[in-house]
Amino acid sequence: GKRVWLDCDPGHDDATAILLAIHIPGIRLVGISTVHGNTDAGNTFKNALRCLYAFGADPSILVHRGVSSPLLKAAKHDPEIHGFDGLGGVEGLPSADDHPVIRNQLEKSESSGLRAVEGIAKAVKDAMRNVEKITVVSTGPMTNIALFVSVYPDLLDSIEEFVFMGGGVGQGNRSSVAEYNILCDPEAAQIVLNVTVKKIMVPINVTHTAIVTRSIHASLLDPQQAQTSSSSNLPLPQPKTPLRRTLSTLISFFASSYESTFGFKDGPPLHDALTIAYVARPDLFKCTRHRVDIELTGTHTSGETVVDLFNYRRCDETWGRAGKNCLVAEQLDGHDDATAILLAI
Ligand code: BDR
Ligand code: CA
Repeated sequence: GKRVWLDCDPGHDDATAILLAIHIPGIRLVGISTVHGNTDAGNTFKNALRCLYAFGADPSILVHRGVSSPLLKAAKHDPEIHGFDGLGGVEGLPSADDHPVIRNQLEKSESSGLRAVEGIAKAVKDAMRNVEKITVVSTGPMTNIALFVSVYPDLLDSIEEFVFMGGGVGQGNRSSVAEYNILCDPEAAQIVLNVTVKKIMVPINVTHTAIVTRSIHASLLDPQQAQTSSSSNLPLPQPKTPLRRTLSTLISFFASSYESTFGFKDGPPLHDALTIAYVARPDLFKCTRHRVDIELTGTHTSGETVVDLFNYRRCDETWGRAGKNCLVAEQLDGHDDATAILLAI
């Protein structure tokens, strides 16, 4: 399978990205790093460890603690969407304090956020030794990744691609035009966008089309129900396995956040899971290559992903500063396949 590194800020939908990265065929998850974002860097680190144990990950997969704040801005968390510890309402995960392995990792981690950068570098070097490349996936603010590309420019040739959830084409979720991951650390995002590595952006335009409806939620709990259910007002059946029950509590909490904050009535999007779905099944996504930059100084538009849809700037076919630097995901085909991936767990 493809070697994949996941940098994340769990976070409900990050947790689903972790789950898919562990179990989806065709992916070999080689490591995880965590970053400030949905909650503080201590919590995101702890949450990633809790998810790995609960989701049955191979114990050789380590979590590397990342930085606590953006490059220039003050850290900004999102308790309104994810609860105070980042995984509000999620049941069935081990508590960090009670779980000896997690406690041990927490004690060893100290507070040094540079472990993430070093972890990514080591994973890239391991890939190089095996004459392979590595795909780096980002589902949170891009601070760790920006530091990695700045400190280790020589390793970039061994990155297959950067796949990130973030941004929006003409729309935002944490301002009129800015999406949360980019808004949290816009300078970091611009640094990453400028490197000469192939990039794929999975913006909210696409993630908002992949909704966990009540009927998908119901079929997660009871696969038999999937064929017979209609999509509205379903009484949710009893879950069959502990992991499905955990996922169900996650979806329920996220659904109520999305309903109260954004008015999503049908269910929540699982933004971050789509990055892993892309790595496993790029054929499900329609993407177009564009120049993408970040608005760093706007009065109303800071953190906007500025997408040059008609190549006004006459950018070339390179991935760096002068080029059409990013494949922008526009459409997810075969929703049923994407759902099937989630339900296969
Ligand atoms: C992104 O922000 C966070 O709330 C989610 O985890 C996702 O990565 C969506 O805008
Ligand atoms: Ca996230």
